Amino acid sequence: MQLTDNTIFITGATSGIGRGLAEAFHKLGNRVIIAGRRKALLEQVTAANPGMKAIELDIADPISIQAAAERLVAENPTLNVLINNAGIMPFDDASGPMDDAQALSIVTTNLLGPIRMTSALIEHLKAQPRAAIVNNTSVLAYTPLANTAVYSASKAALHSYTLSQRFMLRNTSVTVQEIAPPWVNTDLIKKGDDPRAMPLDAFIEQTMAALATDAEEAIVESARPMRDNAGPQEHALVMGFNSYIAENPIPV
Ligand SMILES: NC(=O)c1ccc[n+]([C@@H]2O[C@H](COP(=O)([O-])OP(=O)(O)OC[C@H]3O[C@@H](n4cnc5c(N)ncnc54)[C@H](OP(=O)(O)O)[C@@H]3O)[C@@H](O)[C@H]2O)c1
Repeated sequence: MQLTDNTIFITGATSGIGRGLAEAFHKLGNRVIIAGRRKALLEQVTAANPGMKAIELDIADPISIQAAAERLVAENPTLNVLINNAGIMPFDDASGPMDDAQALSIVTTNLLGPIRMTSALIEHLKAQPRAAIVNNTSVLAYTPLANTAVYSASKAALHSYTLSQRFMLRNTSVTVQEIAPPWVNTDLIKKGDDPRAMPLDAFIEQTMAALATDAEEAIVESARPMRDNAGPQEHALVMGFNSYIAENPIPV
């Protein structure tokens, strides 16, 4: 995607990767609107970045999503980039009874959240001469971490949705890119400065460089082995399969 001259909406930008991306895009002169539930942090981030705007949003609540989308479009008619970044990562144990409320909350936040947010903005994005959607999945979409089974599955599902979305938008002004971070040092689990976690600054720098390309997946180098587990030919396969179905429709 083009990294400059955009109006960008980033969910989950009160901390971590979302805040890092918001500040990187802000530094490049883009108009940036951040979102999250924690009002005090929204105020703190916008105060630290003059010109940046904020909207309160609970991505797990469809009414909140609809209200945010309406306000966004009304106040920012040039909005052309949506970064679906908000997410949660509770641990679980798939070998025993699941905590149903927790499982529902993970899927509602990590999968339905981006689906609903995009749905609320897609017609506006398609009306822009140049637009982009960026979905933040995880390397765990490709190589699940067994003690975050529902999280890993929610990210695999978001990856799958992203593939379909990219195909369906192929003849529009909207490009679709995916970020699949490795372990990055944020508050997602508990910021502990574990040496295995990638420093946030390095992650943001490498991700911005990757987003600047036309790559479907803006993946940092250290994430490659886990991502490639699913096979690097996946895009060609998905394009070929869906092109065939588009030319030979399934009778309904
Ligand atoms: N850090 C990693 O190792 C890693 C690896 C792979 C993928 N990721 C993905 O990167 C994304 C960002 O995570 P992070 O590492 O930056 O963690 P983080 O610092 O905990 O950030 C998570 C963000 O999501 C927002 N959020 C969570 N639930 C929300 C809700 N219901 N409504 C609105 N916003 C919500 C939080 O804002 P509020 O609490 O203010 O609402 C916060 O800004 C997530 O999707 C995560 O799965 C992270």
